[in-house]
Amino acid sequence: MIEELEQTAAGATARLADVEDLDGLAALDAEYLGKKSALTQAKKQLGELAPEDRKAAGQAVNEIRGRIEAAIAEARARLTSAARAEQLEAERLDLTETRDEIRRGSLHLVTQARDRLEDVFVGMGYTIAEGPEVESAWYNFEALNIPEWHPARGSFDTIFVNLGEPEQVMLRSHTSPVQIRTMENQEPPIYIVAPGRTFRTDTADATHLPAFNQIEGLVVDRGITLGDLAGTIDEFVRAFFGGEVKTRLRPSYFPFTEPSAEFDISRPDGSWLELGGCGMVHPNVLRNCGIDPDEWQGFAFGFGIDRLAVMRYQLDDIRELVNNDVRFLRQF
Ligand code: DAH
Repeated sequence: MIEELEQTAAGATARLADVEDLDGLAALDAEYLGKKSALTQAKKQLGELAPEDRKAAGQAVNEIRGRIEAAIAEARARLTSAARAEQLEAERLDLTETRDEIRRGSLHLVTQARDRLEDVFVGMGYTIAEGPEVESAWYNFEALNIPEWHPARGSFDTIFVNLGEPEQVMLRSHTSPVQIRTMENQEPPIYIVAPGRTFRTDTADATHLPAFNQIEGLVVDRGITLGDLAGTIDEFVRAFFGGEVKTRLRPSYFPFTEPSAEFDISRPDGSWLELGGCGMVHPNVLRNCGIDPDEWQGFAFGFGIDRLAVMRYQLDDIRELVNNDVRFLRQF
C-alpha cells in the first residue's frame, strides 16, 4: 500500500510542478487529498492493520500527505504570484512624461537693442534719463519751440488724453520732452540719453507701430559744434553696428533744432537708410529751460529703437516685434 502511495505522490508532485492555473490546481488538490483520494482511502484502511504495523504505516501516510500538501502550497504560491504579475502588467499606467528640452527665456530684442545703446552711450560718458509717457502740451510741444499754431504739431499724429483742456494732455509723441525735463532740473554740462516708449495714431504696418520706442540724446556744454554732433553719431553707429557702417547728415527741419539734419547709415549695398533726426539745440529751447544760449550750446538727436532693431536683425516686418510669437522671439 505504501508503495502505491509513494508512486501516487511522485505522480502528484510531477503534475503539480506543471500545473498552469488555479483551477487545475484545485482539481489536483481534490484528486490527491480529497475524500475519494488514495491517501484518504489509505488512512481509513489503517485501522484494519495489525497494531504493530499501524504506527509505521500511519507515519508513512502522513509523511506522504505532507509532501503532497507542500507541493500544492508551492504550486499555489507560484500561480498566485504569476497571476498577480499578469494583473499588474495589464493595469499598468504609463506615466512617463516627455517634454521639450528646457529653454531659458531671453530678453526681447528691443530690450537688447536698448540695453546695447545705453551701454554705448554710457561708455561715452552719458547718463540715462527718463520721463513720463503721459505728457503735457508744454513738454511735448511748446517748450520744444512748437507753439500751438505751428504746422509741425499736426505731423506728430498725437494721441490726446481726455483730461482737462482739449489737446493739453497726450501720450508723448516723441522722447524730446525728456530734453526739457532734464534741462529744467540739471545745470549744464549735460550729457544724457533718454530711451522710452512713444505713441502716435499710426496704424500698424510693416514699418510703423502706434506704440514704439525712441531714444533721445542731449548734450549741452560750452563750445559745442555741429562737428561734435556728426562725430558722436558716427561713433555710436560704429559701436552699435560695427566698423563698416558709415553715417551722413542731410539738411532737414525740426522746430527744436537749428540747423537741423536727418542722419542716415550706409547699407552693405552702398545705399543709405534714414535712422533719425538731429541738430543744434534751438536757442529758444535753451531759453525756455533757463539756459543762456550765449554761454551754452548743445546738440540733440532722436531715433526709433524698434527700427534700429529691424535694421540690425534684418526683419521684414516691424510687427514681428509685438506679435510675441515665441518661435520668432527664440531666435534672438
Ligand atoms: N523728436 C523727433 C521725432 O520724433 C526726432 C528728433 C529730431 C529728435 C531732431 C531730436 C532732434 O532730438 O534734434 O521725429
